[in-house]
Amino acid sequence: MATDDRQTPHDHEQKDREHIEPHDDAGYETVSGIKMGHAKVPKFLKATYIILAMWAVYYGLTATPVNDRTDASTPMEPTAEAGAEIFSTSCAGCHAVTAQKLVGPGLAGVKERLGDTELTNVLHKGRPERGMPAPPSLGLNEAQIQALKLYMETLK
Ligand code: HEC
Repeated sequence: MATDDRQTPHDHEQKDREHIEPHDDAGYETVSGIKMGHAKVPKFLKATYIILAMWAVYYGLTATPVNDRTDASTPMEPTAEAGAEIFSTSCAGCHAVTAQKLVGPGLAGVKERLGDTELTNVLHKGRPERGMPAPPSLGLNEAQIQALKLYMETLK
């Protein structure tokens, strides 16, 4: 009786499993009681792994460390459009782009009036003794000053 008691549920288990997984031999093997598939890694996944690995190497070699990244407001390419934006935040409080005087003179035609050298000079050094702050003291970097200069040149 004791032997029958142990064997009977075991037999049922075996039968149940055969019933549920009739293709056991074809698709699976059991390793430490865990069912394992024999499926190969599909080609497209292998390709994806290779591409990801190549991208990781490329990124590692070319990425700019976070600390070296310039401020988001810094134009990478100084353009007159970027200069116009910088002007509206840093300069428009004192200057109109027309001939109208505010705190400082209106900047219409400023390039013709000052000439290239003096314009460059004012944009780097300002005239602190006369109320025109040096743009670097306003937190502007060289690229931003170049952009401002391009914008100044569009003011006729
Ligand atoms: C706090 C007010 C103030 C701010 C801000 C300011 N300026 Fe001026 N700026 C002046 C004053 C005042 C003068 C006139 C100085 C003088 O009498 O020589 C001047 C002169 C100038 C001139 C020479 C104009 C001329 O006809 O001689 C230029 C160019 C100029 N500013 C550009 C800028 C730019 C670009 C900015 C923004 C980065 C700026 N300024 C920000 C007050 C300011």
